[in-house]
Amino acid sequence: DIERKVDALLARMTLAEKMGQLVQYGSDGASEPTGADAIAANPEARAHVDVLALAGKGELGSMLNVVGAAKTRRFQEAALHSRLGIPLLFGADIIHGYRTIYPVPLGLSATWDPALVEDVSHMSAAEAVTGGVKWFYSPMVDISRDARWGRSTEGAGEDAYLGAAMARAYIRGYQGKSLADPESVAASVKHFAAYGAAEAGREYNTTDMSDIRLRQVYLPPYRAAVEAGAATMMSAFNALNGVPATADSYLMTDILRKEWGFNGFVVSDYTAVMELNNHGVALDAATATRKALQAGVEVDMMSHYYDTEIPGLLKEGKLSMATVDEAVRRVLRVKFALGLFEHPYAHGTEVTQAVEANRPLARRAAEESFVLLKNGGTGAAPVLPLDRRVRKLALIGPLADAAGEMQGAWGGAQRFPDVVTLRSGLSARMKARGGELIYAEGTGIDTDSEAGFADAKKAAAEADVVVMALGESSRMSGEAGSRARLDLPGNQQALLEQIAATGKPVVLLVFSGRPLVLDWADRHVPAIMAVWFPGTEAGNAVTNVLFGDTAPSGKLTMSFPYAEGQEPLYYNQFPTGRPPGDADLSKPPGPDTTFISRYIDVPNDALYPFGHGLSYTTFGYSDVQVSRHRVPLAEANVPGAKNLVTVTATVKNTGKRAGTEVVQLYVRNLGASVEQPMRSLRGFQRVALKPGESRRVTFQLGFPELSFWNAKSQEVVEPTRYTVWVGGSSRADQQASFDIVH
Ligand code: IFM
Repeated sequence: DIERKVDALLARMTLAEKMGQLVQYGSDGASEPTGADAIAANPEARAHVDVLALAGKGELGSMLNVVGAAKTRRFQEAALHSRLGIPLLFGADIIHGYRTIYPVPLGLSATWDPALVEDVSHMSAAEAVTGGVKWFYSPMVDISRDARWGRSTEGAGEDAYLGAAMARAYIRGYQGKSLADPESVAASVKHFAAYGAAEAGREYNTTDMSDIRLRQVYLPPYRAAVEAGAATMMSAFNALNGVPATADSYLMTDILRKEWGFNGFVVSDYTAVMELNNHGVALDAATATRKALQAGVEVDMMSHYYDTEIPGLLKEGKLSMATVDEAVRRVLRVKFALGLFEHPYAHGTEVTQAVEANRPLARRAAEESFVLLKNGGTGAAPVLPLDRRVRKLALIGPLADAAGEMQGAWGGAQRFPDVVTLRSGLSARMKARGGELIYAEGTGIDTDSEAGFADAKKAAAEADVVVMALGESSRMSGEAGSRARLDLPGNQQALLEQIAATGKPVVLLVFSGRPLVLDWADRHVPAIMAVWFPGTEAGNAVTNVLFGDTAPSGKLTMSFPYAEGQEPLYYNQFPTGRPPGDADLSKPPGPDTTFISRYIDVPNDALYPFGHGLSYTTFGYSDVQVSRHRVPLAEANVPGAKNLVTVTATVKNTGKRAGTEVVQLYVRNLGASVEQPMRSLRGFQRVALKPGESRRVTFQLGFPELSFWNAKSQEVVEPTRYTVWVGGSSRADQQASFDIVH
């Protein structure tokens, strides 16, 4: 039905109207819908365009980051009054909430809870459609193994398997059962492809990798999103193996369309078509346009190239009308699927503040995202949860009362007054308990002044326990947020050292959009918790976890290094010839091991590895079993083969409090035609256990879990030996094994 409608409409369109569907502009960002905001102010592009006039002529297909019922209505009305009345599609960077803000995606990934991520995504969509937004530039599924890369905050971390699970969850949440549902939005999976591999973690930088690595590590989340029905994709800024992704037909035609059968459309990143000139693969606008369009970029975001260059290219025979028609067809297909022709305007009543009904979800998401990195203590008892006898609590640090810093990158349509800061959350709790919260900012996020140190030390001296809220500002991660130093910015480290020197028990809360170097803190501070950027309910969530109403259950999805020089750092490293692959790389090497792959100053492995995260109880693992020890290759090397081997293990809550453990399954295969990582995640489950309770957990391994990419770019299972580990982090030590045999 949709195909018929698309073809009928396409047959009536002029070239100008067709080109209109292939371009996208923003407004100038003014908050009121005045004449000025109808001009797309794009200094990099060659000209400004009158967006409202374009919409009125039916020569505009979509807009970016124009949100709000009144604003979107104004442009939509113009479009609907054009000759063919094709509705506009409003896209925006809603990546972790619209008005109610949830943790940044890296934090959401630390929940290892796809069902939660699906709920969060659905609620974000349900809020955004009230502002007319029907298209999210999300999820960002770029694998990031380099903490220097600021956009690590926008993704699910370093692992392909977890990344794919999260990608599916976002698509289900955004697009619902049907795109036509009024609360569904179209997803734009970004940034295709391998943007997260930017060399040296420097934003927009080049990437270069083997096809094996591309397919094994970077492509699985995009592929999972496409298989889950993602409506659109966004091409990346970076070049991959010498070809800018926005002009890469291997990626967008061969892999995305031919191999994966993608039916939607691809939008470029912001001015990425124009940037083909900067990359040096096009000498003029016409060539950039031709290369991008022919490679598979249907929509030109902000370059103002497609609408000026296509006529000339057609006339000169350098581009066929069939290519243009196919691009328009793909855009219209998504618009029809979304039901935009029937319901072009904002849905329901516009959400104008954080939705009270969504606060519990925002709070739960934040609580689940926190990762307890360390929980020591002075005596036998760990510092956390805070002893209910604590009467005076000091709260120190620049993130303690910073409503504007709780959202992290891309804050949607948030409003700061909605945010519960740590100070307000903790002071309400202390008051309710008849205690006192003593607050001192101590220092700014990125300043040199020590003017506030004295007050902070005084607060610490008066308190039973000190909570320090330190870390990055929201702007230090996200787009163009690369950092070469991964320390606590400004003089926060100095403040931390001086407060620790008071001898008071310190709980360090680390706010960041990436792993930081916490080596000093690990050696001197008893309790450390990564809280990312927690969103609207930050203060309540932190309070609940500090006081033990909720036990932490988050696990890292990116490795925390000892030092920046280890980056890129990831758990699923490859073996080297030296040392043998089974050496324990978490320990510093001994003195007799000079000529091996190692640093002389820090271990090879992470300070806090992938999958690590503590609770207020402890968990034990035992009795890992496999259902079969020999699996015939003919049975295993079949794409789609399921349930080839069942792995079972017992997990027990060995402590005194209830808790939830993320049980993780890792595999390694030895004897393959190409080197395999020393471990790869191939399963996980969240398991809630009461004190003393144990549970038998089960994982199924099939072709998707056992296969890998060989040197001929084929996904295969070979006759190899598999070791499986089940445990609470990538350092799990309980194992079993089986063979794939001829
Ligand atoms: O969606 C983003 C993208 O991730 C980075 N560049 C700008 C786009 C639109 O705002």
